[in-house]
Amino acid sequence: MPEKRIVLKNCEVIDPRRITTYLDRDGFRAWEKVRSEMTPEQVIGEVKASGLRGRGGAGFPCGLKWELARKAPGDEKYVICNADEGEVGTFKDRYILENDPFTLVEGIAIAAYAIGTKQSYIYLRAEYHYLFDLLMNAISQARERGFLEYLDIDIREGAGAYVCGEESALMDSIEGKRGEVRYRPPFPPEKGLWEKPTIINNVETLMNIPQIVLNGANWFNQIGTERSKGTKVFSVSGDVERPGVYELVLGSQLRELVMELALAKKVKIIQVGGATGRMIPYTMVDTPLSFETILGAGAITVLDESRDVVDAVYRTLEFLAEESCGKCSPCREGTETMVGILERFSRGEGEERDIRLLEELSNAMMLSSLCGLGQAAPIPVMDSLEYFRDDYESRIKQKQGGIVA
Ligand SMILES: Cc1cc2nc3c(=O)[nH]c(=O)nc-3n(C[C@H](O)[C@H](O)[C@H](O)COP(=O)(O)O)c2cc1C
Repeated sequence: MPEKRIVLKNCEVIDPRRITTYLDRDGFRAWEKVRSEMTPEQVIGEVKASGLRGRGGAGFPCGLKWELARKAPGDEKYVICNADEGEVGTFKDRYILENDPFTLVEGIAIAAYAIGTKQSYIYLRAEYHYLFDLLMNAISQARERGFLEYLDIDIREGAGAYVCGEESALMDSIEGKRGEVRYRPPFPPEKGLWEKPTIINNVETLMNIPQIVLNGANWFNQIGTERSKGTKVFSVSGDVERPGVYELVLGSQLRELVMELALAKKVKIIQVGGATGRMIPYTMVDTPLSFETILGAGAITVLDESRDVVDAVYRTLEFLAEESCGKCSPCREGTETMVGILERFSRGEGEERDIRLLEELSNAMMLSSLCGLGQAAPIPVMDSLEYFRDDYESRIKQKQGGIVA
């Protein structure tokens, strides 16, 4: 199955420092079309009809988000591009920013026009500081050519915390506060940055916009599955021969990505969606990649037969406990407690009742945590207990038999 490049169409083709190379490939034609022929409502209608869903992990319908912000009362509104890319194993946004900052600028310009604002931000991951000048250069060149007459795009550098990629913590961070999640409702399209209507979109989501405008919603709608339209850009790493960034039509099989493109061998575990994502066995390699099945932000980490499941979950939970913002106790206490239990297992001291405790904690955290971090932290734990329970039980047996010291 070949890759299909919509989002990555210009990557490694244009010169990311020269706007002329972008203009030669239909650059800013979508913006010209919007500006001269379309009302904001028509733009939103087209994005809604395309079926585009957010690529940052949650898969919220993009056009609907824009419509809510457009209809929210008030003149002061904001567009934020989420370029925090803190998910473990994700590096696709970095690849996009490095290779095609112009499409992103064009996507932001269209989003701003659609919701009716003159102010936008790019929230750039702290570690991507080296991309600051490249992005500023793309913004200045677009401005010099008259494409950003009505819009300011400011870059805010991230605070270096995983949770600051979460949209409400991100807004706190832009406001100069410590990044902690907010209670919702109200949701950002109603009350977001500085309590004004705000849309927050992932880099990849916005990269789709110019082509949807130019080619039409029907063109986009025909790519993918019933509820997952278009393509998805994946970051593949771990025990594979060809790690990297791949763009596939939604609905393609995990096998095509991991085995055929990335050339994995002797696969034991596939982590799909990063630290808070799924942890599945090789037997599920024929699962299609879509919002209906399994997706997240597109981080795929392959672990081969030499890897230990309990250790992998332990490390993942250690990361999440470290990164929990601490505002809600289910996440703050739950992740720490899970780390303690998993550590016992990795020392060979886990017991049968620890498995029950992990299950009970998982349920409580999923139901009562404030944001996606705490709600999804139990996913790898639950998956490992479902698909790799033997790995836990064999350690308990070893302890009972006195094999593990
Ligand atoms: C802990 C946590 C971290 C997140 N990190 C990111 C991130 O780095 N980049 C991103 O685009 N979305 C991230 N998200 C999702 C955002 O909250 C939000 O759903 C997304 O930016 C919306 O854009 P989209 O609709 O275009 O996907 C994160 C969510 C959580 C719970």
